[in-house]
Amino acid sequence: MKRTWWKEAVVYQVYWRSFFDSNGDGYGDLEGLIQKLDYIRDLGVDVIWLNPCYESPDKDNGYDISDYYRIMDKAGDMETFDRLLNEVHKRGMKLIMDLVVNHTSDQHPWFIESRSSKDNPKRDWYIWRDKPNNWRSYFTPSAWEYDEKTGQYYFHSFAVEQPDLNWENEEVREEIYKMMRFWLDKGIDGFRLDAIALLAKPEGFPDAENPYDIRYLTNNPGVHDYLQEMHEKVLKHYDIFTVGEVAFVSPEEGLKYVGEDRNELHTLFHFEVCDEMPTWDPIRFKQIQKRWYEGLWGKGWNSQFLNNHDHTRQVTRYGNDKQFRVESAKLLATLVHTLPGTPYIYQGEEIGMTGVKFDTIEDYNDIAMKNKYAEEVAKGRDPKEVLESLQLLSRDNSRTPMQWDDSEHAGFTTGTPWLKVNPNYKEINVKQALADPNSVYYYYKKLIQLRKQHAVMVYGTFRDFSEHDPYIYAYTRELDGVRWLIVLNHCDNDNVYELPEELASAHRHLLLGNYTDVKEEGTTLYMRPHEARIYALQ
Ligand code: NOJ
Repeated sequence: MKRTWWKEAVVYQVYWRSFFDSNGDGYGDLEGLIQKLDYIRDLGVDVIWLNPCYESPDKDNGYDISDYYRIMDKAGDMETFDRLLNEVHKRGMKLIMDLVVNHTSDQHPWFIESRSSKDNPKRDWYIWRDKPNNWRSYFTPSAWEYDEKTGQYYFHSFAVEQPDLNWENEEVREEIYKMMRFWLDKGIDGFRLDAIALLAKPEGFPDAENPYDIRYLTNNPGVHDYLQEMHEKVLKHYDIFTVGEVAFVSPEEGLKYVGEDRNELHTLFHFEVCDEMPTWDPIRFKQIQKRWYEGLWGKGWNSQFLNNHDHTRQVTRYGNDKQFRVESAKLLATLVHTLPGTPYIYQGEEIGMTGVKFDTIEDYNDIAMKNKYAEEVAKGRDPKEVLESLQLLSRDNSRTPMQWDDSEHAGFTTGTPWLKVNPNYKEINVKQALADPNSVYYYYKKLIQLRKQHAVMVYGTFRDFSEHDPYIYAYTRELDGVRWLIVLNHCDNDNVYELPEELASAHRHLLLGNYTDVKEEGTTLYMRPHEARIYALQ
């Protein structure tokens, strides 16, 4: 298999508005990120993924861009961005930008022109129809919005304020490619491409049989033509890394995006776990891992992540954030860093930050949640019940400010934070983690170091030895005669794992574990709650 830097990398995602506020306005900013770069570097990560910081009315926290060539005031300015890039590079790291090209803000001058009249030259830059079909958008009951001025509907896959660009229009594509070159010529190291599976729309927009199953928004014919063109005209001319956000995709379809012979993207995020598996489902999770491994291995590259700015913090959603928070956070880290694919760390994950429950809808900010809340309450449902039903998966679970210390607002800002800080910041914060040699933080550091020292962790083949076990996940990675065994007891109780015959005779050397000692007798491993072990087998 071809070895590349981005397969070996560990990526750290910075949701800058919640990372560190340098000027007291309550929002994190690029200057704040610069001030914390040493912290990120010390963890050992290689690449920073920066959420969108372009000019934006900020209806969807930067995913509604109104000027691709400017930095939004909350984040800073272009001078600060350039300095950030330079400082990242000085520390031997790389920076990838989040880029949204499926849609813009409704305040983007292109859309303002487009909606101004039916014969405006930019009319066709967006998607206009006389009649809507029955599709829903991600964030609203209809994917179409009526525009009185010209008496037509425009199409939006997300919020009303995020009209979809018309990728069939060649001028649009050329304009986007030009803009991508602008950023790449600055020296950035790649893109995380937002909602990239949505670029192509189906001929004629036929009604869906079940409008609630919004798969129809993604992976429509033509999407690969666009990506191949983007590759040909832009991506292939730079030594960069690209990761596409590809919802509702099978490994077979996924390979079309990332196949090494396809000239599209390097890697993808599929969402069979984060979007489609609401709570921990071990057998299903194992099947997903196996299918994706078999579908991609040797042909294209995967990503590993269990949370990000759209998905509730992993220790809350898939682990135990109460009795076993530290053990559980470490187990999940082990999982993400030892399964095949490039691992992602979402800011705060490395100190075991948890999700949040606010008392009222007013305390929430997430447009997806707030729109859904309004829709359900309008149907006559009890507001309290609706709030409770939306809390676990609200995107604000992972967007609360980074917890730096136990001072007011967790040391995130001297002002009023744009989103409330999680009240548990007094116990869970960076300062505490750095002072405790057994913290989640130092465990991440060790995991990352292991990846740097051992190619097997990146390029090793994968085999599951526990397919039907609902608690223990045991698998090997193997490369050039080096074999590792990973054993995880993903549950609140003790469990016993009997090594299969094939592995039983090997000598085991513990490389990393999340308990201070190891209990085993012969070929029987006694695993405590949320215990994780990485062994080298000889
Ligand atoms: C995916 C992004 O991660 C999410 O935050 C955003 O709301 C949508 N795409 C729309 O851009």
